[in-house]
Amino acid sequence: MIISLRFTPLRYLAFGSVSLLSLLACLVWKNSESELPSRRLVPLEDHVFKVISPSTYRYKLNQPKLCERRQPFLVFMIPVTADDSEARETIRKTWAQDNLVPNVNTARLFFIGQPGDLLQNLEERLRTESKTYGDIIQMDFLDTYHNLTIKTLMIMNWLATYCSSAQYAMKVDADIFVNVPYLVDYLQKISSQQDYITGSVIADGHPRRDQNSKWYLSKEVYPESALPPYVSGAGYVFSIDLAKKISLASRFVRPIPMEDVYVGLCLHFLDIHPKFSRTLLPYRNLFEIRRLDYDKCTFVQRIIVTGFSPSQLLDIWYDFQSTSSSC
Ligand SMILES: *[C@@H]1O[C@H](CO)[C@@H](O)[C@H](O)[C@H]1NC(C)=O
Repeated sequence: MIISLRFTPLRYLAFGSVSLLSLLACLVWKNSESELPSRRLVPLEDHVFKVISPSTYRYKLNQPKLCERRQPFLVFMIPVTADDSEARETIRKTWAQDNLVPNVNTARLFFIGQPGDLLQNLEERLRTESKTYGDIIQMDFLDTYHNLTIKTLMIMNWLATYCSSAQYAMKVDADIFVNVPYLVDYLQKISSQQDYITGSVIADGHPRRDQNSKWYLSKEVYPESALPPYVSGAGYVFSIDLAKKISLASRFVRPIPMEDVYVGLCLHFLDIHPKFSRTLLPYRNLFEIRRLDYDKCTFVQRIIVTGFSPSQLLDIWYDFQSTSSSC
C-alpha cells in the first residue's frame, strides 16, 4: 500500500506552524524549568546531607512525651537561642500560654542549639528552666544564623518523631505577636488537613547575587535564577503530615542557609503549593510582615504581626486581652 503524502501548500503551512509552535512551547517550557531546581530523585551526597540532617546531632534536652499526653490541635515551634530567656518568659505569659482558647489544646516548644560562647551557668540555668516548664528542646549543633536551616529540619524531625498526634504546627519567631484565637478559628474552618501550609507567601523571589546582602546566595550554592514560592519564616502554619514529608524531601534538596526558602525548595520538590492567607474587601494579609504599630482593632484582624521586643509584646498583650476596650 502506498500512502501518498500530498503536501499541498495549505497542509504544508499547517504542518509547519504546528511544529514551530511546539518548538516554541518546548523552548519556553525548558526555560521556565531551568529557573527552578529540577525534581529529580537524586539523593544528596552523604557529606552534604550529614551537615543538615538532625540525625547527625544529639538532643541535650528533649520532651519526648509532651504530645503523647496532650495530642495538641496546634503546636508552636519557636526557635530561640539559649540566652533568650526573657523572650521565652514573655511568650509563656502571652500568646503561647496554656488553655488560652477554651477546649483547644495547644503546646509550645522552644528550639535551641549549642551556644557559641558559654556564659556563666547558662547550661545549668537552661536545664533548670526546662525542668520547670517542660518546653525546651536543645540539640548540639552550633546555634548561628546560618544554621537556622538545621534548626528548622530539627523542628520537622521532632514533629515527625514525637508529635504526629498533633493536627497543625506553627513555626514562629520569638518577636512575633500571634492572635491565637483568630488562628485557631481559621484552622478549624479550613477543610484541607493534608499538604497544607500557609503564611505570608513570597511567590516571585529571586536569589540575591550581591555579596553584601543578608540573603546572598552564590551561583555555586544555588545556580537557578528564580526561587519557588515560599512562606516567610516569621511565622508559618502547616498540617502535621508535612513535617515528615519535608524531612524526607531534605534528603534530595541542596541546603541553603535561609530556612524559609529551604522549606520552599522542599515544598517545590514535593509539588506542594503554599497557600496565601488573606481577606479581600478590605484586602489584608493575615500574616502581616510589614511593621505595624499596635492598634487593637487592627491586630484583631491579623494572625501575626512582626517585630516586637519582649516588653512591647507584654504591653500589647495586656491591652489585647483586656475587655475594657473593644472594636
Ligand atoms: C553549623 O553547625 C555545625 C555543627 O555544630 C558547625 O560545625 C558549623 O560551624 C555551623 N555553621 C555555621 C555557619 O555556623
